[in-house]
Amino acid sequence: MLRFFPEKKKYLEEEKLHEFHPELPVPEHIAIIMDGNGRWAQNRRLPRVAGHKEGMETVKKITKHASKLGVKVLTLYAFSTENWKRPTEEVDFLMQLPVDFFDKFVPELIKENVKVHVMGYKEHLPAHTQKAVERAMEQTKMNTGMILNFALNYGSRAEIVTAVQEIANEVKSNQLPVETIDEEVLANHLMTGFLPPQLRDPALVIRTSGEERISNFLLWQIAYAEFFFTRAFWPDFDEKLLEESIATYQQRDRRFGSVKEEGEK
Ligand code: IPE
Ligand code: IPE
Ligand code: MG
Repeated sequence: MLRFFPEKKKYLEEEKLHEFHPELPVPEHIAIIMDGNGRWAQNRRLPRVAGHKEGMETVKKITKHASKLGVKVLTLYAFSTENWKRPTEEVDFLMQLPVDFFDKFVPELIKENVKVHVMGYKEHLPAHTQKAVERAMEQTKMNTGMILNFALNYGSRAEIVTAVQEIANEVKSNQLPVETIDEEVLANHLMTGFLPPQLRDPALVIRTSGEERISNFLLWQIAYAEFFFTRAFWPDFDEKLLEESIATYQQRDRRFGSVKEEGEK
């Protein structure tokens, strides 16, 4: 079916719609590359940062809905190690966002029993951002529901390099025999290592804005993830699109390199 996409000024084939079945398994760990804030704003003749502000509202909406659907970990890519290349004004705005976001939203997160975690090179964030992040983690640490995991100043190649350095140091100080290094040892040293092993790897990765690339996100952890790409810009992403992404996931046949037995569904 053709639908008009105002941002592209043309008719395009509409993405296939699948029906969401709440009774079918929902991915326990969903990771989202929240992209398209700048273009959302530019389409409205607004400064790019207006898109980031609006995107924060989407974060609230999607957090609440994911938690309601029974998602156990929601990882959101908020700022990459490469995003420092942006104009200072935009970077400053993005570093102020977590302060405003947590200030306003933590009481609601506590009510929803959501636990905040932030993974990334936090030591390089400005002091006020670090403080806001630490406070939010502290204030929600007793919550036992969904983990809301922000990737902030996160880059997966850097993460892997850091893990290798840590492992090398353990070998050097005779704490770790080389032969015992395996996938589990490496996974333990990645930034998702704080999660229980069965929850570290996202089952579903969503990217908004029509781009279909990974941009240095969770390179190790996505080895067997399912992908969902939507043309919607992040500020336009909503509960319905989240359900549609899960519905698409529910249709997929995850084989993990194996084959299905005859008659198996
Ligand atoms: C995603 O939106 C937010 C961040 C990367 C911080 P963008 O700012 O990348 O928006 P576009 O891709 O330029 O439209
Ligand atoms: C990826 O988006 C990073 C985040 C969403 C935080 P970018 O907009 O930075 O990625 P590229 O530059 O399009 O690959
Ligand atoms: Mg972008």
